[in-house]
Amino acid sequence: MSDIPSGSGVSGIVEAAPALLGSLRLPADKSVGQRALLFTAMGSGTAEITLDRPGEDVLSMASALQTLGAVRSIDTDTEGMVRVLVRGGGTLKAASLPGGGGETLDCGNAGTTMRLLTGALAGRPGGATLIGDDSLSSRPMERVAAPLRSAGADVTTTDGHAPVVIRGRRPLTATDHELVVASAQVIGCLTLAALAAKGTTTITVPGPTRDHTERMLAWLGAPVRREGPLTTVQGPAGFAVRPISVPGDISSAAGWLVAGALHPDAHIIIEDVGLNPSRTGIIDVLRDMGADIKVASGGPTEDCPEPVGTITVDGGHPLHAIDLAGDRVADIIDELPLIAVAMAAAEGVSTLRDAGELRVKESDRIELVVENLLAVGANAEEREDGWVISRGTPRDAPIRAAADHRIAMSFAIAALAGVAGTVAIDDPASAAVSYPTFWTDMEGLIR
Ligand code: S3P
Repeated sequence: MSDIPSGSGVSGIVEAAPALLGSLRLPADKSVGQRALLFTAMGSGTAEITLDRPGEDVLSMASALQTLGAVRSIDTDTEGMVRVLVRGGGTLKAASLPGGGGETLDCGNAGTTMRLLTGALAGRPGGATLIGDDSLSSRPMERVAAPLRSAGADVTTTDGHAPVVIRGRRPLTATDHELVVASAQVIGCLTLAALAAKGTTTITVPGPTRDHTERMLAWLGAPVRREGPLTTVQGPAGFAVRPISVPGDISSAAGWLVAGALHPDAHIIIEDVGLNPSRTGIIDVLRDMGADIKVASGGPTEDCPEPVGTITVDGGHPLHAIDLAGDRVADIIDELPLIAVAMAAAEGVSTLRDAGELRVKESDRIELVVENLLAVGANAEEREDGWVISRGTPRDAPIRAAADHRIAMSFAIAALAGVAGTVAIDDPASAAVSYPTFWTDMEGLIR
């Protein structure tokens, strides 16, 4: 974990802000950033990936690729803009296997790094052992290993978890995968492996997911197509790399959208943020609850396959309860802890269903959201696949974040917007996993 920014006065103790005003740019999108680095390493040519103040998950991918010999240089300027020169050309030289799993790659807290690298390495010579921190080591990895094995890959997990050992093998077999979990990480993993398989691979998912993998690979010229629940890959296939500028992370913007929507005196502008339609559900949910949010969107550009734009939120509008379930949940999966905070401020009883995946994220987010909401005085009940939440009487409380960045940030936002009393978050530094400037940005908005 990186240190809490010095001089910010941040100790994890947060109280209600008198007002929240200002404009900001956010660190590079965690999902897009990890993909930009990895896909460039898998393509042909050399390209620079530009990332504004990337979080630890993106750096975990950069460091793994460095170990694999695909990173030429990493430069950081005084503003925190990071430029990674990545050399493609199949130089993912996962080392030979002297009786074991080749190079050991530490994926830190990053599920996307671990799952996408597994697919990228499965169809290439050599091998690797992927490890992670305690949280990542408790997350399910058979969801990628089992379908990869069905395509002929040699991938093993440790009781279903990391370490994941990949003994690269070529060629893999083009396979029709029917996934039981709608997961962009699993689709991404199988898509990357399919690029090394001869023939047509299809991946069918039971619901919507974010489509960054399909979008970026198609933009790079790879024969990858996404149509509704179906992803199709024609292999074997290569593609030429391009410079990529990674937009700001809408999941980081989500904190300010919730804070701005809940606070009676707020006007926050967020610029250069990614607006991929599979990630903007947070805007729709908050609008449905009564928030005043405006969006100005531009299309993809020469150096970015994603739509990017500006979001403005104005506070002072009372929110009302909402019921969330079904396909709607996919677009907001990472924002649900923040949406729980909005639910605890709204008039009426809100419910969430069909979100069992929250139990296998960086923590069991259903358990932790409910535990911490109860601690700060809201009414909250756990359900197997969701929760029931309504407004209570805000009070001061310690917050158990369990090193989960989204729990830590969500309860800072709860206090800032007055949904909680003063909170003391046990692990404020965990925000750096996705949003390393969270605490300084927060201080900059408080008036
Ligand atoms: C991600 C996909 C989501 C999300 C995660 C990042 C990605 O997970 O929760 O933070 O970059 O593909 P699943 O694919 O498991 O739903």
